[in-house]
Amino acid sequence: MKNKKSSETAEGVAAYRARESIRSENDRVIYDPYAMLLIGNKWKKLLNNAIYRLIMALIGKFKYPGFYYSIMARIRFMNECIKECFPGDYTQMVILGAGYDMSAYCFRDILSNAKVFEVDHPNTQKEKLSKINKYVKNIPDNITYVPVDFETGNLKESLVKNGYAPSEKTLFLWEGVTYYLEKESVEQTLQFVVNNSAEGSKLAFDFFPPEVIDGTSTERLGKEMYNLVKNLGEPYKFGIKEDDIDSFLKKHHFTDIHKCSSREVRDTHFHGDNKKRKVSRLFNFVIATT
Ligand SMILES: C[S@@+](CC[C@H](N)C(=O)[O-])C[C@H]1O[C@@H](n2cnc3c(N)ncnc32)[C@H](O)[C@@H]1O
Repeated sequence: MKNKKSSETAEGVAAYRARESIRSENDRVIYDPYAMLLIGNKWKKLLNNAIYRLIMALIGKFKYPGFYYSIMARIRFMNECIKECFPGDYTQMVILGAGYDMSAYCFRDILSNAKVFEVDHPNTQKEKLSKINKYVKNIPDNITYVPVDFETGNLKESLVKNGYAPSEKTLFLWEGVTYYLEKESVEQTLQFVVNNSAEGSKLAFDFFPPEVIDGTSTERLGKEMYNLVKNLGEPYKFGIKEDDIDSFLKKHHFTDIHKCSSREVRDTHFHGDNKKRKVSRLFNFVIATT
């Protein structure tokens, strides 16, 4: 990320969350009533106008085929992970690279007995907190915000200092983040999770194949995503082939590894007209156990 800047890709995902949350209850894939509050005025203006929404959908369909609904699938996958673990014997949830993710608020009922830690780059977290303080009422008191740069900071030290207990059963969400980190930081984060959580803890994340990261993807969406994030100053850095994710996670002592494609999420959780929506095979998700 460029110096001092909050993440624009995070704001983009929030705008997508806001877009989907405008749809009727019968149609939408996810619902996040906070997203609209957190995005900038430029996005608000576009999303609150039906004609602009239509134009954006058309541009998206042709320039970024499958992008919007793959992100919906990714968010829904993460939401299902939360619902699987809480309430239950998980006592902590850590959102790594939280951006404008408001799961801690949207799922406040099932998370009421858990501690939630939102970890993010200091620039993005500062911007999110200023928006929350301005626009959001009834902030749950079980959330702790922990600013950390994954590339230069000490995740363990920062979390523990803020009340994270390495002995407790924890769900870690790492959505839309791995590809923005160097391989070394990805591996350090995996090691942190394995070494600092109770056995049976879970980590859910998504990843892209190497050809998306280095711009050699032959798919239109792969090429466009590469250009988009590069132009935003948040270039991709880490990728891994779908076939290698099992061995990569096993090398880091994870077990019970479940992969899930955006297509599987669509087929299981999208309904009505959305069942036919295009999702991209470039979007894959995984949940693994410590
Ligand atoms: C595409 S956004 C995803 C945000 C959020 N997880 C979501 O799904 O809405 C990428 C996130 O990764 C964070 N990030 C990128 N590089 C980081 C770093 N070196 N340290 C900490 N966070 C980082 C950004 O601040 C941003 O919040």
